[in-house]
Amino acid sequence: MAAPSHDPTSVPAWAALQQHRQALTPDLRGWFDADPERAERLSLDLADLRVDLSKNLVTDETVTLLLQLAEQTGVLERFAAMLAGEHINVTEDRAVLHTALRRPEGAQPALRVDGQDVDADVHAELAKVYAFAEQVRSGEWTGVTGKRITTVVNIGIGGSDLGPVMVYEALKPHVQPGLECRFVSNIDPTDIAETTADLDPETTLFIVASKTFGTLETLTNARLARAWLWRGLSAAGALADDDDARRDAVARHFVAVSTALQKVADFGIDPANAFGFWDWVGGRYSVDSAIGTAVVIAIGPERFAEFLAGFHAVDEHVRSTPPERNVPLLMGLLNVWYVDFLDAHTHAVLPYSQYLHRFPAYLQQLTMESNGKSVRWDGRPVTTATGEVFWGEPGTNGQHAFYQLIHQGTRLVPADFLAFATPQHALTDGDADVHALFLANFFAQTKALAFGKTADEVRAEGTAEDVVAARVFSGNRPTTSIMAAALTPSVLGQLIALYEHVTFVQGAVWGIDSFDQWGVELGKQLAQQIAPALTGDAGALAAQDPSTRSLIDWYQAHRA
Ligand code: F6P
Repeated sequence: MAAPSHDPTSVPAWAALQQHRQALTPDLRGWFDADPERAERLSLDLADLRVDLSKNLVTDETVTLLLQLAEQTGVLERFAAMLAGEHINVTEDRAVLHTALRRPEGAQPALRVDGQDVDADVHAELAKVYAFAEQVRSGEWTGVTGKRITTVVNIGIGGSDLGPVMVYEALKPHVQPGLECRFVSNIDPTDIAETTADLDPETTLFIVASKTFGTLETLTNARLARAWLWRGLSAAGALADDDDARRDAVARHFVAVSTALQKVADFGIDPANAFGFWDWVGGRYSVDSAIGTAVVIAIGPERFAEFLAGFHAVDEHVRSTPPERNVPLLMGLLNVWYVDFLDAHTHAVLPYSQYLHRFPAYLQQLTMESNGKSVRWDGRPVTTATGEVFWGEPGTNGQHAFYQLIHQGTRLVPADFLAFATPQHALTDGDADVHALFLANFFAQTKALAFGKTADEVRAEGTAEDVVAARVFSGNRPTTSIMAAALTPSVLGQLIALYEHVTFVQGAVWGIDSFDQWGVELGKQLAQQIAPALTGDAGALAAQDPSTRSLIDWYQAHRA
């Protein structure tokens, strides 16, 4: 049984935090001046990550009160309940066990949940994925005409896309030469048309990734891909005009990843070429399951195992580290502090790594589909603000776009800055080490945000008085700096797990179910109802509200 839901605003720490907030005047300059140990004390190690929390708008008292809030809202108990397989996803009556996906083989005590030997099942499926990936990587697995696979196209959406594409992009230096992955997600036909335009059907493998195998976008794209394959093979004279030949082609060019293996078979994909996972893995928590098959093919089982080990190291940290040094716990609590006590509406994630260019998009689903809720897990309305908007772009591009608002706007935007000491490409510009130049920007930004620039400092530069105000930086803009030696598969796993658990902590404090996503259902239902109205069904059109009807009329009048 999941713990009963709570109102976080009713626990004593909440009131104490409110009082503390009233009395607190953020002053990072003063706090650092008065406390030479602040940076060291608030810099923590999490596996291979160095996490500097010192530029956040907190004093020791804030941290103490936030930890009391965690205790009084049962965050770590709920974490233990999650690890043990309790049905903490109450609205779907499911266990939440993405942490089981990265438990090492033979971990003790073994994990049995709802009668299932979870460890054995996870490792059996992983072994299947690894074996298949090795066949593709070695060339043993060929297309129907005997040619080696050179391109893998993952068809999926949401968690069945964002995870694989983000990880593939992040770990590109580890991709086997001669292999490429591409990703199709959008039902906008442009996506599949552009993605397949220059591909050779004889050397292309499609992975249809869908937890439910019922998602309109993915199934439509999978059918389009199948038609493209048959058309292309036919044009090359490589496909006889009969059902057996078409089935054989699908068997060599399509595999699937799903929890709904019967639906996979109904689509025409050989169940022998399907990899499973379980309803206790949420879509946005699934990149470390068989949903990562494209990544396994690209980087190989060995690197993928390192990736999983990175996740597990962070799981272990959360489970066994005392609260005051527990990084995901502290980062989640800081986010609650900003959202509920300092009125932050958004949170920026700014990777100083081009390889992480899809990381903010990945985090948007992870955090916003998880915590964008206005009822608690017992169905009662929340009494405080919940999920903030996560967003970001790689540095330094963002510096020349939206950082202005973070530095001088009226909104408080807490920001996480990510960087790696070792470059993947150690280029020099004359004598200058370009990566060092890049990192100078990373260090400069958090310094500027924290400490700002006073009017006197601006004047001291000889600035004309009438523009002094425009050139002042208030400082006290909170940031967390996260560094690692290099962006390895393990470090990437650590980063993902870190944010999974930050998201968990926030949801646990707020008393919301971070593992359902009912908010995406209505739009899906309405799209099904509206579709006939676009193809001439007068009754379906008449059933729409006046605004929607008028938009559809406009569309009909203007389509080419
Ligand atoms: O957007 C809703 C959602 O259910 C996500 O949670 C999920 O990741 C995505 O759709 C795709 O679902 P599926 O993997 O079942 O196709």
